[in-house]
Amino acid sequence: MIVPLKIDYSKMLEVEGNLVDSIHSLSGEIDKSVEGLKQKIQREELGFYRLPFQENVRKEIKEISESIRQRFENFVVVGIGGSALGNKLIHNSLNHPYYNLLPGDARNGNPRIFVLDTVDPDMVRGIMDILDLGKTVFNVITKSGSTSETMANYLIIRNMLERAVGKERLKEHIIATTDRGKGSLIKIAEKEGYQALHIPENVGGRYSVLSPVGLLSAAVSGVDIDGLLDGAAFMESACRDDNPFANPALLGAVLQYYAYRKGKTISVVMPYSDRLGDFGDWYCQLWAESLGKVKTDAGGRTPVGQTPLRAIGVRDQHSLLQLFLDGPNDKIFTLIKIAKRHGDLEIPASENLDRGIGYLAGNNLEKLLHSEFEATETVLTNRNRLNYRIELPDLSEHSIGQLIFLYMMMTAYMGELLGVDAYNQPAVEEGKRITYRLMGRA
Ligand code: PA5
Repeated sequence: MIVPLKIDYSKMLEVEGNLVDSIHSLSGEIDKSVEGLKQKIQREELGFYRLPFQENVRKEIKEISESIRQRFENFVVVGIGGSALGNKLIHNSLNHPYYNLLPGDARNGNPRIFVLDTVDPDMVRGIMDILDLGKTVFNVITKSGSTSETMANYLIIRNMLERAVGKERLKEHIIATTDRGKGSLIKIAEKEGYQALHIPENVGGRYSVLSPVGLLSAAVSGVDIDGLLDGAAFMESACRDDNPFANPALLGAVLQYYAYRKGKTISVVMPYSDRLGDFGDWYCQLWAESLGKVKTDAGGRTPVGQTPLRAIGVRDQHSLLQLFLDGPNDKIFTLIKIAKRHGDLEIPASENLDRGIGYLAGNNLEKLLHSEFEATETVLTNRNRLNYRIELPDLSEHSIGQLIFLYMMMTAYMGELLGVDAYNQPAVEEGKRITYRLMGRA
């Protein structure tokens, strides 16, 4: 049974007593956005919307991952941006926090997982230093098929692999995940005989985590991809209502939009879970690249967008929280709580504890974490900082699937509310073109 995640905006109501009326007064814009998104879905422009329901992809990924698990000790994702961040999010939220350091049998014999999303030579060389290439498979992921960082790393890896395993065995060690309709990688894969997994044409990089992009590394590490996709499908069914109070993604977008219009130009996501740190990075890319745009309408050209910021509880209580509380009131906070963890630790009693720390004894770490969560909510509210809570029942595939889908839908609704195209990234493309020129491409 899937336990739904919950959005609780009661603290936001404490700060803004007339929040509900204010949301009702936005109904014209909300209705227009809902309609706009429905039309995009009907025109099949929102490819991510269909990803939880692709039975053939589930089957294909399970078969390939099974064969990889039997043959390899290491699985390396080579990609960047949307072709890497979702992999990290799934891996770090669902697998053991020290997964790669566990002995093989504690990983059920599954390969270690690495994500190479950099061209810092220290990191690329560093990963090669520790891998036995004969026991390693590389999943090269690029939607466009030509991203310079990914393709540069591919060429280096191919060269090293060829020396290690021989040209004829290269195809056993490289899997290409790309859009079959464009770019260089698909042509290389066809020529070299690499196994190729397909990213649908209408699924953009940062919306692709539930496609083969994120699913293969997940399945290889033993994540239950059915649970993940079923959680996402569950959230899809929860997000069909036109009423923001009956549709969590629309509600999340409307809360953010309301805050943005009130000058909250920074949107902080603060999970009280280290294991959701990579969720924070994934969210930052999704929110920033989708919504930071120039809006063009009758009023001219206006730059819009909310700056996403990732914080982690409790660590950032000792770092960013001071700024959040006493600095400019220009932020909206989403605090994420995990209701139940896999295991807890009791804080033992010990002799000679003075009154300063004696209260800790007999309590447990989960209680401390939840207490700090509630303390942060309260101090934010006391200082009139807009904040609301997302509560996940646990860190399970069902919950992470829901969270991923919720945020992709929220971003889609927010794009409609802001009046921007949430699926392109024109300014980033400009930077890519300059890089090509500096690197000598015609
Ligand atoms: O969301 C996007 O489209 C981008 O952030 C891409 O994911 C990123 O630029 C990498 O592109 P590609 O997957 O084509 O290599």
